[in-house]
Amino acid sequence: MPAPPTDSFHRKIDYLRLSITDRCNLRCTYCMPESGVARLDHTEILRYEEIVRLVRIAVSKGISKVRITGGEPLVRKDVLSLCESISRVPGLSSLSLTTNGVLLSDFAVGLLQAGVRRINVSLDTLKPERFAKIARKDLFNQVWAGIMAAEEAGISPVKLNAVIMCGVNDDEIEDLARLTFRFPFHVRFIELMPFRQSDHESVFMPASEILERLRRVAPLEASSADESNGPALYYRFQGALGKIGIISPVSGHFCPSCNRLRITSDGKLRTCLFSSDETDLRGPLRQGAPDEEIAAALLAAINKKPEKHQLSSPVFRKCISRPMFSIGG
Ligand code: 5AD
Ligand code: SF4
Repeated sequence: MPAPPTDSFHRKIDYLRLSITDRCNLRCTYCMPESGVARLDHTEILRYEEIVRLVRIAVSKGISKVRITGGEPLVRKDVLSLCESISRVPGLSSLSLTTNGVLLSDFAVGLLQAGVRRINVSLDTLKPERFAKIARKDLFNQVWAGIMAAEEAGISPVKLNAVIMCGVNDDEIEDLARLTFRFPFHVRFIELMPFRQSDHESVFMPASEILERLRRVAPLEASSADESNGPALYYRFQGALGKIGIISPVSGHFCPSCNRLRITSDGKLRTCLFSSDETDLRGPLRQGAPDEEIAAALLAAINKKPEKHQLSSPVFRKCISRPMFSIGG
């Protein structure tokens, strides 16, 4: 296995997030407008052979972990066959997937069989009526059933991601955290990023405040970092089965340990979620470029990975170029 490539700030880059579709079966307020968005034409979206080839090339250069994202990845046709092909790429050590859970009941067992061992599910609330408001679809029960199906199938860990917004769901921080007493879930609280919610300044809750609320539930001890080397800081309530994670993209400083690359569903490589710098890989793929040329483009982009984002700067807050469904979580 080749060593992971490093960028110009000595960070090891070993993790690739692949968005396989810009479509989604929910319309979360912080991500999409109610009416949805103009979708990419299917000819613009990378085909499965193209995706698998990119993964093979990336792994040959030292990328060892891949996460499949969207949009909602489970809405793409034959997603299990893609998972299977990716998990068979020699040298890949971990394949994971991020989903909104709507279709997870049907897919949990198949995903595990296709080589997906780790799953992240978005879950901002435990109240069905509130779910319907945040996600704009009345599908809480289906998502919860999906989470249970993943747990029963033996997917481990199942991580639940909650975006916390003041006055929207902050009164559920404690209840969401208490799930870790009953289930071995990693419940992760995420600061709202300014992608879409027009009133994000007024509903934003910093990670420090979330943590303060959590400490009121029960004593929290620091827990080991996640093996995926992700951006979450982990804690655990004494006696709990699961963990609590805090992800602070806005107030925190996880840039120094960032190990990730992203490829959008239309084949653009992005080295930072918050930078609009993109390298087109679809063009070379479709023009018959050899593997070495695509690998060189990948390494050149890694070399230019920005040191950090400017999310805390008020100017920047207004101008994130592409929302989450398009970049892929
Ligand atoms: N702020 C924080 N998290 C977001 N996500 C989507 N949009 C935002 C945002 N504006 C999260 C979802 C999901 C993951 C893919 O990204 O909740 O867990
Ligand atoms: Fe869909 Fe995820 Fe965006 Fe919600 S946050 S609309 S589930 S892509």
